[in-house]
Amino acid sequence: TSDIRPLVAGNWKMNGTRASLDQIRAIAHGVSGPLSRKVDALVCPPSTLLYVATTLTVDTRLLIGAQDCHQKARTGAHTGDISAEMIRDCFGTHVIVGHSERRKEHRENNKVVSTKARAAYDQGLTAIVCIGETRSEHASGRTMDVLHRQLFESMPDDATGENTIIAYEPIWAIGTGQTPGPEQVADVHAAMRRDLIERFGDAGERFRLLYGGSVKPGNAKELMSVPHVNGALIGGASLKAADFLSIYHAYE
Ligand code: G3P
Repeated sequence: TSDIRPLVAGNWKMNGTRASLDQIRAIAHGVSGPLSRKVDALVCPPSTLLYVATTLTVDTRLLIGAQDCHQKARTGAHTGDISAEMIRDCFGTHVIVGHSERRKEHRENNKVVSTKARAAYDQGLTAIVCIGETRSEHASGRTMDVLHRQLFESMPDDATGENTIIAYEPIWAIGTGQTPGPEQVADVHAAMRRDLIERFGDAGERFRLLYGGSVKPGNAKELMSVPHVNGALIGGASLKAADFLSIYHAYE
């Protein structure tokens, strides 16, 4: 699996106004150098900035994606939602589905997440499917069981390494500054890889597995060198170009 090209991805969540476009410009500039042949970079701004972000980054190596899409791929009476078709129309290439904040605040279950991933495929987008255990699940030793089930149920049968990326985000590590140790991340990522191979055969080797949860410039190198960690999904530290780029350059 070492021939998987890593991906450093930023999830801006409900952050970012027009003033933040300078950060997108700076990230695009910073990832368009020689390292870009080895590592991909993606930023998922709020949908209000999606179109202008892709317009700004034409001819750069920075990819732009969205943070969610509706279960229906195209159009419909769904006030406040955006569809995979709209994301594609704005030249977005990726969409995050099933982030723990969506699962919690919008009551999205595994089935909903899987349907959203299918909507993404329908429009040629790559779905970034997020899974992760809560603090209490972690504390009671249920992490592996929870993840096994989430991974299985949140992924459609036609998922491939091209249309799907998996992000492991322990909920207790998001925005807390706490991270699992490298051995724990290694255990989880190896288990996810085994699950994927069991379900998809050799094609299971091709899925990128990202780690997310308090990835910072100071811990990126350690986390990114864990086996079967094929990149990062970064929240807070993706908002500032300097931090994003320093994580990106942890691959050098
Ligand atoms: O999707 C990324 C996110 O949940 C991690 O957030 O702020 O802990 O890097 P943060």
